[in-house]
Amino acid sequence: MIRRVRLEDLDEIMLIERASFPVAWEYSIFLNICLQGGQIVSGESRVLFMDVIEESTKVIGYAVWETDTRLSQGHILNLAIQVDERRKGKGSILLSSILGHLRDSNIRTCHLEVRESNVAARELYESKGFVASTKIPGYYFDEDAILYSLTL
Ligand SMILES: CC(C)(COP(=O)(O)OP(=O)(O)OC[C@H]1O[C@@H](n2cnc3c(N)ncnc32)[C@H](O)[C@@H]1OP(=O)(O)O)[C@@H](O)C(=O)NCCC(=O)NCCS
Repeated sequence: MIRRVRLEDLDEIMLIERASFPVAWEYSIFLNICLQGGQIVSGESRVLFMDVIEESTKVIGYAVWETDTRLSQGHILNLAIQVDERRKGKGSILLSSILGHLRDSNIRTCHLEVRESNVAARELYESKGFVASTKIPGYYFDEDAILYSLTL
């Protein structure tokens, strides 16, 4: 089941986040998103969303993305699946759900940055049709990013 994030998901999210990234997002970032019900409007056209994927009432992954309806662009900011739930199709389901949401919002393109060495994520995005474009030197403190784009 995929649903919008809630405050009570925060502890499970932080465990997944810290196990998934060399530099985890801070607790306060997720807290702020949760406190606003997983949907934060900024300006006239931008909205940030956060969904979780849940199995047997346990959060096993999440995604954060934003849309800009004026530019007709989406941007995936974070996506992670709990370590022992990986390679079971959950990341793919969650990503498909985001892309469905973008299409329903009449968004035409979606972008994201990924660590150059992150084979799992790169394969996942490429399996959905994302195409690598430019390298962004020093995007992460210790590594370059690859910019991926998808035309929806
Ligand atoms: C990237 C991530 C979300 C993938 O989630 P997942 O649930 O394991 O992915 P899925 O099982 O849905 O895999 C879908 C496809 O992605 C690719 N893939 C996923 N993990 C892979 C791996 N370790 N190596 C190679 N390809 C992989 C495969 O093409 C896979 O299809 P297949 O299983 O039929 O071969 C997960 O590895 C993760 O949370 N990583 C840490 C956080 C992260 O890097 N997030 C991305 C930030 S940009």
